Amino acid sequence: MENIEKIKEEIRSLLSSVSSLKELRDIKSKYLGSKGVVKELLKKIKEVPPELRREYGKKVNELKEFAEKLFREKEEELKRRELEEKLKGEWVDLTVPPERVVGSLHPITITLERIKEIFKGMGFEVEEGPEIELEEYNFDLLNIPKEHPARDMQDTFYVNKEGYLLRTHTSPVQIRTMLKKKPPIQMIAPGKVYRRDDDPTHSPMFHQVEGLVVNEYANFRHMKYVIEEFLRRFFETDLPVRFRTSYFPFTEPSAEVDIGCVICNQEGCRVCKETGWLEVMGCGMVHPKVLENCGIDTEIYQGFAFGMGVERLAMLLYGIDNIKLFYENDLRFIRQFF
Ligand code: PHE
Repeated sequence: MENIEKIKEEIRSLLSSVSSLKELRDIKSKYLGSKGVVKELLKKIKEVPPELRREYGKKVNELKEFAEKLFREKEEELKRRELEEKLKGEWVDLTVPPERVVGSLHPITITLERIKEIFKGMGFEVEEGPEIELEEYNFDLLNIPKEHPARDMQDTFYVNKEGYLLRTHTSPVQIRTMLKKKPPIQMIAPGKVYRRDDDPTHSPMFHQVEGLVVNEYANFRHMKYVIEEFLRRFFETDLPVRFRTSYFPFTEPSAEVDIGCVICNQEGCRVCKETGWLEVMGCGMVHPKVLENCGIDTEIYQGFAFGMGVERLAMLLYGIDNIKLFYENDLRFIRQFF
């Protein structure tokens, strides 16, 4: 009977060093198995004097219950630890972008990718800038001083911090790039822009892609070629393109680019307001003041820039007649594009 207490101690100390379920199973069968210690002790009851058998039996049963409980607790602990280890190994970082997108891409995303790929193919780098922008970059350095009437061309959202606004165009990214890099520069800047505008063809938030080329020889013909080539690749047809004189404070000379209406093939329709032409972007030779504002020597360098509306291009590419469809996130609409 003294032995029984020793066995309890033995089990306790063995279990404290067990680290795997397999080890545990082996020890368990040694004590509780069909040929285990407990079974042997029970057999020995015949050898015990009759007056002590009752007590002996009770002690062995206690030992059995004690051992079962200990093994059960240890097993639970080991299983829990094993699961924790397994979960640690299988941990998935949900913030990592997927390699393959499940579901479908938004038509604006598809259009942006299409535009970026075309320009990357023509040797342009992709630059980015913040949507909450310095007034200085959005206006002043682009040759639009405080009292300049051109500030009214773009209905601006101002924010509650002096000197900041929601960028009204992607042109401030031109400024950021020129302040940061030396020419030659050949970049595009895709992104969201904001204006106080809201009707079937205008949304308070929309996307633009800005383009900027600065080097020693950039001229209007280079610009014309880049834009025409882009439009041919984007619409995958040889469509009519015209450059119409226009005005932007940051370019001189400036132009607006029209394409032959892709909806009616220039027959005249509601979309092109019976003119046969659709305006798709603004462009021009970068104003020398803008280059100087960014510390670029205008005796050596010149540049051209252009800016296009992504929603506009997507609407024409896919034949969509209401800009609001892009922002309602109706899956029946979104799933149609690829
Ligand atoms: N930033 C102009 C706009 O949003 C577009 C533009 C960009 C025009 C670059 C000329 C050169 O209206």
